[in-house]
Amino acid sequence: MSEGCPFHQPADATSQATMTSPTGCPVSRDAAAFDPFGASYQLDPAEALRWSREQEPVFFSPKLGYWVVSRYDEVKAVFRDNLTFSPAIALEKLTPAPPEAVKILESYGFAMRRTMVNEDEPDHMERRRLLMDAFLPENLEKHEAWVRELVRSYMDHFIDKGRADLVEEMFREIPMTVALRFLGVPSEDAKELRKFSVAHTLNTWGRPSPEQQLKIAEDVGQFWQTAQAILDRMRDEPTGEGWMYDSIRMHHQHPDVVPESYLRSMMMAILVAAHETTAFATTNAFRILLSNRASWNDICENPTLIPSAIEECLRAAGSVVAWRRIATEDADVGGVTIPKGGKLLLVQASANRDPRHFENPDEFDIYRHNSAEHFTFGYGAHQCMGKNIARMEMRIILDEFVRRLPHIHLVEDQAFEYLPNTSFRGPTSLWVKWDPEQNPERRNRGVLENPTHFHIGAPIKEDIVRRVLVAEVAREAEEVVRVDLVDPYGRELPDWSPGSHIELVSGEWRRYYSLCGKRNDRHRLSIAILREPSGRGGSLHFHGTIKPGDVLHIAGPKNHFHLDETAERYTLIAGGIGITPILTMADQLKALGKPYTLHYCGAGRRTMAFLERVERDHSEALTVHASDEGCRLDISTALSSVAEGEQVYCCGPERMLEAIELLAQNWPEGTLHVEHFSARSNILDPEKEHAFEAVLTDSNVTLQVGNDQTLLEALTAFGVDVPSDCCEGLCGTCEVAVAEGDIDHRDLVLSRAERFAGDRMMACCSRAKGDRLVLAL
Ligand code: HEM
Ligand code: FES
Repeated sequence: MSEGCPFHQPADATSQATMTSPTGCPVSRDAAAFDPFGASYQLDPAEALRWSREQEPVFFSPKLGYWVVSRYDEVKAVFRDNLTFSPAIALEKLTPAPPEAVKILESYGFAMRRTMVNEDEPDHMERRRLLMDAFLPENLEKHEAWVRELVRSYMDHFIDKGRADLVEEMFREIPMTVALRFLGVPSEDAKELRKFSVAHTLNTWGRPSPEQQLKIAEDVGQFWQTAQAILDRMRDEPTGEGWMYDSIRMHHQHPDVVPESYLRSMMMAILVAAHETTAFATTNAFRILLSNRASWNDICENPTLIPSAIEECLRAAGSVVAWRRIATEDADVGGVTIPKGGKLLLVQASANRDPRHFENPDEFDIYRHNSAEHFTFGYGAHQCMGKNIARMEMRIILDEFVRRLPHIHLVEDQAFEYLPNTSFRGPTSLWVKWDPEQNPERRNRGVLENPTHFHIGAPIKEDIVRRVLVAEVAREAEEVVRVDLVDPYGRELPDWSPGSHIELVSGEWRRYYSLCGKRNDRHRLSIAILREPSGRGGSLHFHGTIKPGDVLHIAGPKNHFHLDETAERYTLIAGGIGITPILTMADQLKALGKPYTLHYCGAGRRTMAFLERVERDHSEALTVHASDEGCRLDISTALSSVAEGEQVYCCGPERMLEAIELLAQNWPEGTLHVEHFSARSNILDPEKEHAFEAVLTDSNVTLQVGNDQTLLEALTAFGVDVPSDCCEGLCGTCEVAVAEGDIDHRDLVLSRAERFAGDRMMACCSRAKGDRLVLAL
């Protein structure tokens, strides 16, 4: 088989797989069968591509003539590099128009040009920056009150009916009305524009029949003319308010960056961008939330969960499921060669369910800590400019429903229909029912008062917490208690993998604890808390106060200490309370039948938690190093036999980890994995810091990072959603790629070799040594 092919043809299968890709690679049977207009993809694109995520994450689809990309990292890599993978074909018709349809379009003078989403650099970024202001979080807040009024007025129409198709009654209308108001377009044009925008979707991403093509061409032609007529009217009002007016003014000031052809094309494109995307996303969100009643009930009880619930809906049931790019040169995606001119279908819906990035991706979990890392809004330089408008609308709609109609249910056995196309996904109707007698506002008008105020942007980490009940507190060793947590309603808790932790939250206190129970018990999460009199107070607080029956909050489970299950053999080293993640790893390796050795060190047996369980379950692999028995761990001896193909996992006190890291500094990448308990120093002292400049190459902007600010804070303030978690340099979530500049590394995530390479840093704590850093963001 040639290099760079996605699929190896079995040696004995010469008669099979005669189909080849444009690079001469054999096409696998699954790839040949993939049909983006077939029932399974239309019904559930992520499920339809499960085989691809598992076996062939980049493949050529002969039926579509595209290279399909289905895994998270590969989709991200393509989105990030918009020079090698141009968005020029993002709005290209997937099904070419027959000559009759072309004639119809010509008769309307249809000449759609590139807008923003399909424009190349440098024009794209120049334009994006000129037109970005209205989308910035601080400029969106003013829209909140009228969006809520709008939502209320729509709900007033059907609140007493007891049954409604929410798509027809409001979800289709509100995003269009909001978009028009944002643009400054008079709303009397709404109805016609909505009809046209549906035609535009089918025209661009659908597979219409030749007859449908003619009808669609008529609608698109009329859309084109209507867009011009509206623009002409708007031009007469030089001081008009709204984004289209801003664009017209920018056209006058910078006609080369915002040309005339752009204005008309953008008028059409932005309506599609803003309308169907949000209408479908809202419909999908309600369908999935109402099908997961426990989640619905939780947000009714606690509406501050709405932003994270919306993000999970966008991940699990997004409205934009696939987006397109074209290779401008021969390029590599996940080891597969994409030839120059090769077209790519990036299936975001599939990437959003990739287990390599999202734990238990098939579970719907509104408490998921990293849902906002979904690709439904795209990623990189072209990432959706309107994401925070869509989030705002969806959050307000949901907030009004959980207050005014918490008792709605989906009508059973309804058939869901979808517009057949590759990219936009949402049912054309959504029937719900309820008993109007039970409407809370009939008894208490107060439900309409004090609506939840949502901050604009990605969800706030602190809000994403799950309520749990303390089921048991048991002594495990001197100064160590095990705490078992269950769901207050007896429901299942999320699945987790070895090395995972949760964050325990109580008032001001937030502390990480590794999970140490049995993985197959889905109703119980166990952690162990060591009383540390010299710590920062968290352990004393939790150790001393928690008792059975208490209700606590947790964030997670999350895993920053993954066990790679593919190694040939393993050495596990635990120091003191570091046994907690290591024990779950040992359990897993034993279950997998993998060879491993386990070193468990402590001051004395009386202080070593779970010793009995470790000795019972892992006796053959175990060496106990109890200092008071005179058998301290000799690290160099323990690690002297580490062989090629082996992996080492360690968790314990800082001094022990430092010694191990020093010893392992010349080991091949990926051999040593450590988990630290706490950061070394993360307090930002403006007296001791200096300000620096961060140049973002993908976004073509330069930010100032003040001496009293972290890089992460500066990025977030500008609206760049860099994911973060611990904010202490411990977890690796906020990693950003660095193209130039000396880095002052302050994290505990990167290895020495990675630091030396100088091509990445943790934005939450690390800084520039000099005046400037250039980031690939
Ligand atoms: C671009 C999705 C709502 C305006 C995009 C892209 C996607 C997307 C996938 C392409 C990203 C890329 O190429 O990396 C969505 C979804 C929405 C939504 C799922 C609702 C849930 C909106 C709204 C507006 C909007 C409400 C405006 C009011 C835009 C614009 C771009 C864009 C202007 C082009 C950005 C650029 O190329 O620089 N959107 N969108 N979108 N979206 Fe949205
Ligand atoms: Fe955890 Fe930065 S957020 S390392």
